[in-house]
Amino acid sequence: MSRLDSHLETALARIERAGQRRTLRAAALLPEGRMERGGRTMLDFSSNDYLGLARHPLLVERAGQWAAAHGAGSGASRLVTGTSELHLTLEARIAAFKHCEAALIFASGWQANAAVIPALLAAMPNTPQGAAVFTDRLIHASMHAGLAMAGTRQHRFRHNDLDHLETLLAEKGAGASARLILTESVFSMDGDRVDIARLAEIAERHDAALFVDEAHATGVLGPEGRGLSALVPGRVDLIMGTFSKALGGFGAYVAGSQILIDYLVNAASGFVFTTAPPPAVLGAIDAALDLVPTMDAERAHLAALGDRLRSGLARLGLDHGASSTQIVPAMIGLEDEAMALSARLEQAGFLASAIRPPTVPPGTSRLRLALRAGHSPADIDALLAAIEAHR
Ligand SMILES: Cc1ncc(COP(=O)(O)O)c(C=O)c1O
Repeated sequence: MSRLDSHLETALARIERAGQRRTLRAAALLPEGRMERGGRTMLDFSSNDYLGLARHPLLVERAGQWAAAHGAGSGASRLVTGTSELHLTLEARIAAFKHCEAALIFASGWQANAAVIPALLAAMPNTPQGAAVFTDRLIHASMHAGLAMAGTRQHRFRHNDLDHLETLLAEKGAGASARLILTESVFSMDGDRVDIARLAEIAERHDAALFVDEAHATGVLGPEGRGLSALVPGRVDLIMGTFSKALGGFGAYVAGSQILIDYLVNAASGFVFTTAPPPAVLGAIDAALDLVPTMDAERAHLAALGDRLRSGLARLGLDHGASSTQIVPAMIGLEDEAMALSARLEQAGFLASAIRPPTVPPGTSRLRLALRAGHSPADIDALLAAIEAHR
């Protein structure tokens, strides 16, 4: 065994002892809210294909057409050789979809957050006190990665507690050279929403830049699925979202002012030093943008399924937190109990992944139940009956 492998073996043993070792398992996304795993077809309540677009014929067809017409790869980073018309046209579509001046495509949501946050902070005035960053306690790991790269300390406000944010802005923000607020519009593990109108008002009053991650809202919430930021047009400085969840494809966008996008083209390392997303990926995004504004029926269906699931969990005495979206946590508490319930549900044909620390705070282990437009009310009832039987 090499020296490196022996260090890694020790590190893996540590993860194993903490009961947190994970492994990759073969699975395949199927239509109608199903998933194939271990040779069995299961009801899937764990993926993020909320609108059922990942296997939609139009996305598959356009991905194939664009690959056939423009090639499998993009050849280089966009600044090195010049960018294709496909990227520019699609970015104009995304900007229009988000009611913003401009947009920029990234290879993934993780990469966008990890690259954009340090770039923004690098542009903020470098006074001795520096910029002050205010983050919701539950922001996604990719935003923490961006903050860690920037080496910036965060002032963390209690989850979705905008009074606490205000207090911190007054206490820690007053003397800072600039203020930046980072949050999500729909939280990935809790399925609750930020009060976007109040958040925008607070940011304006404290002269803070506002960065909102719309990974789980894009396509599902807001007018025509444009996200919650569409409820406060022009008042979120930077909107980030992904194509990998409700939009059924891959990649991410950042939308905002033209100056913001011009700056990121120059300063976001995860844009500058990476190969442009390839034509097939862009084709799928283009097709999703055709479909998403027309999918009000699917959005209403998801909302109704969410209500049905929440009422059912409440009947079983299970807390679903402040969820009001297509993501519904069934709070279990102890890690071992959440894992054991998830395993029993899997035996019974339901994919309902347990989420545990470090992804969520200790004591809040849960089943993270994610709804898909292909689910029927009977699927929800079957899940609830299985939870009741296997608890
Ligand atoms: C809130 C949030 N932001 C960003 C990401 C990363 O997006 P992607 O999967 O496209 O890398 C995720 C995905 O898990 C997420 O939940």
